[in-house]
Amino acid sequence: MRSLLPKDRPALVLAPMQDVTDLPFMRLVAEYGGPDIFVTEYFRVTPDSRLDGNILKSITENETGIPVFAQMIGQDIPALVRNAKALEKYPVAGIDLNLGCPAPVVCRKDAGGGLLRQPERVDEILRALRDTVEGRFTVKCRVGFTDKSEFPRLLEVFQKHAINGLTVHGRTVRDAYKTAVHPECVAMAVQAMPCPVIANGNVVDVPTGVAYLRQTGAAGLMLGRGAIRHPWLFENLRAHWEGRPAAVRTGRDMLAYIQKLYEVTAAFHPRFETNPHVHKMKRYMVFITTGIAEGQFEHRIRRVLSEPEFFAACYEYLDNDEPLPVRPPASSGVFCGFAELK
Ligand SMILES: Cc1cc2nc3c(=O)[nH]c(=O)nc-3n(C[C@H](O)[C@H](O)[C@H](O)COP(=O)(O)O)c2cc1C
Repeated sequence: MRSLLPKDRPALVLAPMQDVTDLPFMRLVAEYGGPDIFVTEYFRVTPDSRLDGNILKSITENETGIPVFAQMIGQDIPALVRNAKALEKYPVAGIDLNLGCPAPVVCRKDAGGGLLRQPERVDEILRALRDTVEGRFTVKCRVGFTDKSEFPRLLEVFQKHAINGLTVHGRTVRDAYKTAVHPECVAMAVQAMPCPVIANGNVVDVPTGVAYLRQTGAAGLMLGRGAIRHPWLFENLRAHWEGRPAAVRTGRDMLAYIQKLYEVTAAFHPRFETNPHVHKMKRYMVFITTGIAEGQFEHRIRRVLSEPEFFAACYEYLDNDEPLPVRPPASSGVFCGFAELK
């Protein structure tokens, strides 16, 4: 099967993020230079689930030219098999299985990260899906449920099933987002797995991305929150590998990004009235505001209730030519432990 990874540099993947990486966000990120590969938000799979129409659009209406994997979350084998077959009827680059979501409601049902407590069950699921999926089949995991010492056993299971790629978010489910990542676990996966391994977690700028690759030997990076916060991150990494200087971005560049993000996401979710749309924007703004005006911008945005208030705050803090801080502050409550990637 043809590899989707670039030959001359590490691969760049946009992390799947529920309610964030929908079709308009993918299109917008592509305009900013974009990744090599997209992964959809997860399709929730249960015995009576149907494929979510809005998530499907990120496959069927994705005209960016960037291949997109369809991600599933669930633990019911017949349902996973049925949904994988249904998804393969669409122009997907492959099927990805989520073994990392830490949400208690998901883990309680033994799906996502919850499955990491049951390697034997993971074994059965991977066998069934590998037998079903005709194209690429990949897995996205964390390094254990409670402790990273669980990871070698999980790798033994992953090794058995000829998966085409493994993305490792270098934290346990228990770690949530509160700790540094464990690059040594990603390095262990690189050694153990015959397929490409992608390193994920806490890449916020070029130095953290370069350090993660150096410490792990991974074939590429998957970027999530850092790419919401700084959509130029993919381009900055490419510039670094090609020996080009990266452009300095200013407050006004960020203002233009927020305006476009507002427009494209509001148009895609027309059921939202203006004020709920401001509410949806806050999901992105949590990441975007970190490091700008020492917390004052974030404080203002959290309190806005209407579109005029929202844009008044954006103009007040961003209508300027000052260079944007690429790295969030080390004390950021949103991005924890990234400074340890060095
Ligand atoms: C808002 C949000 C939604 C997420 N939704 C998903 C998802 O649908 N599927 C998945 O595999 N991971 C999901 N994740 C996890 C990310 O894909 C990624 O593994 C994690 O954010 C760590 O990478 P980062 O530090 O680059 O953000 C989500 C993360 C966030 C912040």
